[in-house]
Amino acid sequence: MSVQIAPSILSADFSALGRQIRQLEAEGARIFHMDVMDGHFVPNITFGSCVIRSLRRESSSVFDVHLMIKEPHRYINDFSDSGADYITFHLEAGLPGGQSGHGGPAGLVRKIKRLNKKAGMSIKPSTPVSAIYPFIRELDLVLVMSVEPGFGGQEFMPGALKKIKSLREYIDKNNCKCLIEVDGGINEKTIGPAVSAGADVLVCGNSIFGRGKPAEDYKKLVRCS
Ligand code: DX5
Ligand code: ZN
Repeated sequence: MSVQIAPSILSADFSALGRQIRQLEAEGARIFHMDVMDGHFVPNITFGSCVIRSLRRESSSVFDVHLMIKEPHRYINDFSDSGADYITFHLEAGLPGGQSGHGGPAGLVRKIKRLNKKAGMSIKPSTPVSAIYPFIRELDLVLVMSVEPGFGGQEFMPGALKKIKSLREYIDKNNCKCLIEVDGGINEKTIGPAVSAGADVLVCGNSIFGRGKPAEDYKKLVRCS
């Protein structure tokens, strides 16, 4: 499968989201990354399910929802109903397990899949990839953060490349089916190394929307990937 570029709408013009998505679809984009932040898990607040629900009416592309929120188990039904296709939560998000009946990260993956959505798990730069391995067979996607989550426009952390390589080797060796997604600081320079390391989906925010020429910059990134 060829790699896919997922424009991150966090860097888009929020007064023209539907139009910008359509512009990119006209250039071949088929997956859009949507960053949900709660001001607790990360020091920034973005948008919630109502924005995703509105965009769902405008687009039939894949919606890749990245939850950077505490207690994600409380909101899964809501994001599922709003039209998310992939629902990705952070392993570090503080998920209740055992006695509380929520079943920790594995329970949340099962819940997402029971709702007929693709399940993703994400790790911050300081979390080793091996933390994902106990769950990987059930996952559709692993999201490797290549910046500290919270803001667009940060610089790619090269340490992510080693993590992507290890993950690629583990996935191939164990015949797992999940995709590797990389998020943060992907641009014309960093996209090549991320793809060579084994990434399948490249999230691009600032490098697509930063100059106000999303169609042109999307095409450039496709050429570099
Ligand atoms: C950061 C978000 C990213 C962000 C990437 O916490 O998860 O998805 O939009 O933006 P760029 O591509 O500008 O680093
Ligand atoms: Zn993201």
